[in-house]
Amino acid sequence: MTQISKRGAALGTENAFVVLAEVERLRSAGKDIVSFCIGQPDISTPAHICEAAIQAIKDGHTGYTPSAGIQPLRNAVANYINRTRKVDVDADDVICGCGAKPFIGYTIQAVTDHNVKNEVIYPVPGFPIYESQIRANGAIPVALPLRKNLDFHFDLEELADRINSKTRLIIINSPHNPTGVVFDRNYLEKLAEIIAPWENLWVLSDEPYYAFVYEQEFVSIASIKDMLERTVIVDSVSKTYSMTGWRVGYAVNKKLAPVFSRMVTNTDSCAPHPNQYAALTALSGNQDSVENMRNKFRSRRDHIVDGLNSIPGIQCRLPEGAFYAWPDVTELCEKAGIKDSVKLAERLLHEAGVAVLADAHFGSPLKVEGQHLRFSYACPLKQIDLGLQRIRNFVQSLL
Ligand SMILES: Cc1ncc(COP(=O)(O)O)c(C=O)c1O
Repeated sequence: MTQISKRGAALGTENAFVVLAEVERLRSAGKDIVSFCIGQPDISTPAHICEAAIQAIKDGHTGYTPSAGIQPLRNAVANYINRTRKVDVDADDVICGCGAKPFIGYTIQAVTDHNVKNEVIYPVPGFPIYESQIRANGAIPVALPLRKNLDFHFDLEELADRINSKTRLIIINSPHNPTGVVFDRNYLEKLAEIIAPWENLWVLSDEPYYAFVYEQEFVSIASIKDMLERTVIVDSVSKTYSMTGWRVGYAVNKKLAPVFSRMVTNTDSCAPHPNQYAALTALSGNQDSVENMRNKFRSRRDHIVDGLNSIPGIQCRLPEGAFYAWPDVTELCEKAGIKDSVKLAERLLHEAGVAVLADAHFGSPLKVEGQHLRFSYACPLKQIDLGLQRIRNFVQSLL
């Protein structure tokens, strides 16, 4: 009988897509659902970026490109990264691909070997693809909790305890999905101090929410002393320019660039050619749309956090970045006799017509950290208000 490999079976999924499919199913059955599930801006890709892709098609830029990406895009990414991350990288260090996501798996494949007990440290809660790719590639996932009592930062002693001679990679993600936490320079310097003595330890800095930091300065760990060489900066045009479906992202690291280039050759061949021209215009053209989107998201953030905090049993911290709110619903679950956040999310979907994700969708939650939900507020204010009103009514009917 044919069998599926352990690798194939070990691949996890991203529950946002699973819940999204359920939302679509309910909607097509005539149900009215307010969705806070999907992590993508509700704003159209700016017109000048779309025009660049149309022009590229008219100019015949429709064939394969070098796997690393067209040279003008690699140059533009290097300039952009130097400008926004305050580092000094060359275009040769940049490899373009189909979004930021493939580079998570590529990095794990490039720095760990299969079944030799190489360990990878990753945040929980965190983007589910980290654990999925670590497992599927035969490395050992080492979850590092973001602690509620430390404002959803790692406990630095816990980090130090988890690093050993088998640790090959630590993944950090700031601004963070799902908590919206942003690591400041002081904290990143402390992380770097712990990492520095371990010579064979890489850092994957997953930065697709770079542009969505609301009050403070964005700092990449790559800009901290001695960190650039061992850090893979991963970013994309997906969120910053509202281009999730265009599938253009990139990774930056001198030593790994040739490996990434071969990985792209072995998988997608290259990112879509016309879309590389669109990304080039996005990164090097007018940046007003980014500023506008950031301002819009900041007022939505304030609105949804205030609204959530006004509902009995819900407490929500003000996230400093990304476009996610991460309310603590422990008290609500306890008072309403609901087992946990997964059950609460299910009931919100089916009884209140509101779709959200639960903490369990971002790695196995620790009991001591309580129950949380994730709301993506990348949706219009009107929808936020309608969703909040539905939750308020639902909660009132329970308490
Ligand atoms: C933390 C994180 N990393 C990476 C990605 C992948 O983004 P993309 O592949 O669209 O660039 C996402 C998308 O939701 C994300 O939340």
